[in-house]
Amino acid sequence: MNDNFYQAFAKLLADTYTLYLKTQNYHWHVRGPYFKTLHLMFEEQYTQLAMGVDTLAERIITLGHTAPASFSEFSALRSIKEGDPKKTAEQMLAELCDDHELILKDLYKVLKIAQEHSDEGSIALLGERIAEHEKTHWMLRASKAY
Ligand SMILES: [Fe+2]
Repeated sequence: MNDNFYQAFAKLLADTYTLYLKTQNYHWHVRGPYFKTLHLMFEEQYTQLAMGVDTLAERIITLGHTAPASFSEFSALRSIKEGDPKKTAEQMLAELCDDHELILKDLYKVLKIAQEHSDEGSIALLGERIAEHEKTHWMLRASKAY
């Protein structure tokens, strides 16, 4: 795993962790007439993101590196912004949609490097992550009122 690959993979992990935390933040703080539905949907999503975090970190370690695993490392690497519990439900949905799009960009960047190295193990894992984020993006998009 060269440095480029490691940096891209580590950023993907940091963004995924940040989105996991943000989705849990919104599970706790979402308000409004659709509280119950969104509360439960966000729980399902942060649970999946937690599993994604684990899969990505363990792949980095499998490839012989140390995975970033602290808040200071994550905040230095991430580009996803932390959640704001004062946002409305609609703002939360819109923001989470944008964040999943950002992670899909991260994923395609890592996938491209994995393909250049014929790293089939990473390619398979990244493909699964892409499909999951696309599905979550659809569900968030479909939940917006506009
Ligand atoms: Fe809960």
